[in-house]
Amino acid sequence: MDTLLFALPKGRLQDALMDLIGRAGIHVDLPGVSRRLTFPDRDNRFAFVSLKPADVPTYVESGAADVGVVGSDVLRECEPDVYEPLDLRIGLCRLVVAAPLDRPLAEGGQWKIATKYPRTAARFFAENNDHVHIVKLEGSVEIAPQLGLADAIVDLVETGRTLRENGLVVTKEVGHISAKLIVNRTVMKTKREAVQRLLKDLDGVIYANH
Ligand code: PRP
Repeated sequence: MDTLLFALPKGRLQDALMDLIGRAGIHVDLPGVSRRLTFPDRDNRFAFVSLKPADVPTYVESGAADVGVVGSDVLRECEPDVYEPLDLRIGLCRLVVAAPLDRPLAEGGQWKIATKYPRTAARFFAENNDHVHIVKLEGSVEIAPQLGLADAIVDLVETGRTLRENGLVVTKEVGHISAKLIVNRTVMKTKREAVQRLLKDLDGVIYANH
């Protein structure tokens, strides 16, 4: 059977994803302290590559990687031309608008919004006929209102702790987020058997959980 080049996202999703993959019978030893970025599973069905989450769709869309896992927040933002055959039901969180508890957004104002998701945020506010100026950040977005860089933020909330500790409250919900398996469009045909086996293995453990 064909070997699949599988793009894994570093960071937030990594632990839950390695656990899910392990329960699906795919045994991977992460490279640990080594700086090597590719590594096989024990049965050599896959070659894994560990990437920044925002790069996973770029690799899979181009065919540099065959399959990958990425949060639906990243997919909404970059809208890659890939198949999304499976919701993995991990990394569950919400994408929200949050503003300072003591400085709620005034209706009809032109707000400054700090976010890692400029396209998603612009689309969301346009749909609601709100006028905003987007400030693109790479992380630690919750600090922006306190320092006067923005009036509010659009960011992920999981436990709510980061918002709370920075004096912010949710004012609007943009959407629910979870991790998705994505597959390159050509690979879905050329490596069909290997992709179908992966889908079946993952399907078994995702739904066993619920
Ligand atoms: C994410 C997200 C929030 C936080 C939410 O950040 O952007 O900041 O987690 O989690 P909570 O509701 O459980 O507090 P991440 O840790 O990925 O780092 P970042 O700030 O660099 O984006």
